[in-house]
Amino acid sequence: MARPADRPADRAVDRAVDRAEAPWWRDGVLYQVYLRSFADSDGDGVGDLAGVTERLDHLEWLGVDGVWLSPFTCSPNADWGYDVSDYLAVDPELGTSDDLDRLIAEAGRRHLRVIMDLVPNHTSERHPWFLDALSSKTSVHRDWYVWADPGPDGGPPNNWVSSFGGPAWTLDTDSGQYYLHNHLRQQPDLNWWNDDVRAEFERIMEFWLDRGVAGFRIDVCNIIIKDALLRDNPPATESDPLDMQLFGQRPVYNGNRPEVHDVIRQWRKLADRHPGCLLMGETPVEPVRALAAYYGDGSDELHLAIDFPFISSPLEAGAMRLIVEDVEEYLPLDAWPVWTGSNHDMSRLATRWAADDPARVRVALLVLLTLRGTPVLYQGDEIGLGDVDVPQERLRDPLGVLYWPAYAGRDGMRTPMPWRVGPGAGFTGPGVEPWLPIGEPTMGTVAGQRDDPGSVLTLVRDLLALRKATPDLSGGAYRSLAPNGDVWAWSRGDRTVVAANMGTAESPLDGMSGRVRIATDRRRDGEDFEGTLVLGGWEAVVVERTGAVPDGRPGPAEH
Ligand code: NOJ
Repeated sequence: MARPADRPADRAVDRAVDRAEAPWWRDGVLYQVYLRSFADSDGDGVGDLAGVTERLDHLEWLGVDGVWLSPFTCSPNADWGYDVSDYLAVDPELGTSDDLDRLIAEAGRRHLRVIMDLVPNHTSERHPWFLDALSSKTSVHRDWYVWADPGPDGGPPNNWVSSFGGPAWTLDTDSGQYYLHNHLRQQPDLNWWNDDVRAEFERIMEFWLDRGVAGFRIDVCNIIIKDALLRDNPPATESDPLDMQLFGQRPVYNGNRPEVHDVIRQWRKLADRHPGCLLMGETPVEPVRALAAYYGDGSDELHLAIDFPFISSPLEAGAMRLIVEDVEEYLPLDAWPVWTGSNHDMSRLATRWAADDPARVRVALLVLLTLRGTPVLYQGDEIGLGDVDVPQERLRDPLGVLYWPAYAGRDGMRTPMPWRVGPGAGFTGPGVEPWLPIGEPTMGTVAGQRDDPGSVLTLVRDLLALRKATPDLSGGAYRSLAPNGDVWAWSRGDRTVVAANMGTAESPLDGMSGRVRIATDRRRDGEDFEGTLVLGGWEAVVVERTGAVPDGRPGPAEH
């Protein structure tokens, strides 16, 4: 892959972390719970808050520090929780207010923080605000949403398309105006130019912080402000990413507006009033400069902005190295990266990155857990869980229902956790039909892997423990070592080197001596080496070096 022309070729930035001041999430590891599929405590086939509480022992044992819960607020589920009809109440299908209090308290006893999913861009069409907005052009909440008169041809006001496909506008026949929805028509976009909307969300955030949540994952926070003039988006070109080309336009005006940073700065002020409060944005933006902007000056916007090029990258040394180097290069000096390989919208890393090949899965996880930045594991990553084929008649995701068979939607990556073998898989009771099929975990269940020293689960747990015990790994600066075929290698801090062979051929790591702390082939843990370490195909290691720190600049061979 070519390096962007405006980047110096070998500039690695040392970013020393003052560990004494590091907030909990900075040295920590986050874990995403997709609530409906984590653990079902009441036998209705749907995961719930009490189910998470029952499984906190697993998360504590694994060694994570914070749990991001997918939305638990009331929703008619047109988009499974991401269409909120009451921001201040727990959806009865997922539990009660007491269940949430218990979960937060029990998590706290285990030193685990609970992060909630905040959905500020849009509400449900059934939210009382939108019902009021629909009731008349002069209603109190009319301006809380984005309305516009038809365009000159009587059609939609402009050319914006929804990120779920089709026009981003739906006509309200009663008023003759269109309302905007960047997703489903059941998810009307809020008007973030309206100060009452801003004030209301501050109240919502305060409400949940007072209840004990430790912060928010903020849904599509890059698009909440739209162009005030509602200008047409420009057409996509061949140089744009494929998804943009498919939509036929660049999302210049229906989101990604500079004014979004004013809103985020306000949120940050609010967060700063609550010690430890984390703001982690869903920020599917490119290029890296745009991502960096969501950190503001490094201290006044998001704490963490999720990097989508990394998730979307193939598991290839060159491609991933450049993405990580870009983040290292462009983020403000005080900013902290966040890395994730799976979520409830993207195919699971075991399948997407690793084609469900155990060796590749192990390499992917070792990489994810040893970069500089906060890693986010998605439930099931720790057992190498791959996507499940969900038959058409069991589809739940509106996108799968709409686009099958061209696109099967997101159900395959949202299937329930296989805790153990047997009916219900420990997710739900025997004989209960889970809301999505559970599938067969190719690398085994949680119980099946837990006591196996060679399992993916043991590898992940040991990596988390090593990360905690090794300041280099939690806080140390990242520096790429010289590119070497399929091997991506980097140093962390003074003494630690990580090397991942993302190819099938054996490859030597030269010019170094030390001891293997953890290898994806666990038989190599503790191996001492002098001068050269030979990595097998699809093998990765964390090494404690003896001797000088490599400077990361290309050696003579690369000049
Ligand atoms: C991103 C969420 O992760 C996704 O699941 C949802 O469909 C959209 N935002 C709309 O809220």
